[in-house]
Amino acid sequence: MNTSINLYAHRGFSGRYPENTMIAFEEARKMRVAGIELDVQLTKDGEIVVIHDERIDRTTNGMGYVQEFSYKQLRLFDAGSWYDSRFSNQSIPALIEVFEWMMDKKAKLTLNIELKNDQIYYPKLEEKVLRLIDEFNLEDQVILSSFNYDSLAKVRSLHSYIPTGFLFEGVSEDAIGKAKSIRAHLHCDMSFALSSYGKKAKQEGLDLRVYTINEMNDFLKLQQASVKVVMTDYPNRFSSTMFKG
Ligand code: G3P
Ligand code: CA
Repeated sequence: MNTSINLYAHRGFSGRYPENTMIAFEEARKMRVAGIELDVQLTKDGEIVVIHDERIDRTTNGMGYVQEFSYKQLRLFDAGSWYDSRFSNQSIPALIEVFEWMMDKKAKLTLNIELKNDQIYYPKLEEKVLRLIDEFNLEDQVILSSFNYDSLAKVRSLHSYIPTGFLFEGVSEDAIGKAKSIRAHLHCDMSFALSSYGKKAKQEGLDLRVYTINEMNDFLKLQQASVKVVMTDYPNRFSSTMFKG
């Protein structure tokens, strides 16, 4: 079957802009993506911030763990120059800033918030994220995902219907059962999506949201396999093919 795919910008338009920054999100929005994926962690003083790594070394001009800094301290680091000096004005966004931006732009897109609590466990990250979503009334525009099954199970215990995605790598035999046990969908890589398990998951009513696809050949295979979402660093490469029947 050949259907449309929803395109999500992975860490924003991270192929052309510094990942997980406001400019990467705004440029993704301009590409009219269906969704944006981003990663969240907690600062020392409990602010939800948008950054992929547990440490700030790779994507800022600072050094150390996210959880060692207050939000005020973290904001001072340059989160753009590592990518290109043109982006030296970018800082690590707070999740609330992203929500405010969505409101400001009246953005219709889905925000896939990955809870980055698999390497370091951030107590209360789930509660804090859910509370903020509730404050902004964004329940219909978010998906919470995590590699940490227990964290997603906690999300489900706190909220009966918010959309979730169980993240895993490779061809996992027990992913379907785990996801179904907490009413999550599957955030998988291409090997799973194109496997017999991927087919079974779809037959059992699970959506497949596939990360991270940057080549047209792969995109076309996934389109053929009728996956629901493809996450990419380069939404510009696929947007014109998204709705071809
Ligand atoms: O959510 C899909 C993908 O973002 C998971 O891997 O390492 O890019 O966060 P990573
Ligand atoms: Ca991610």
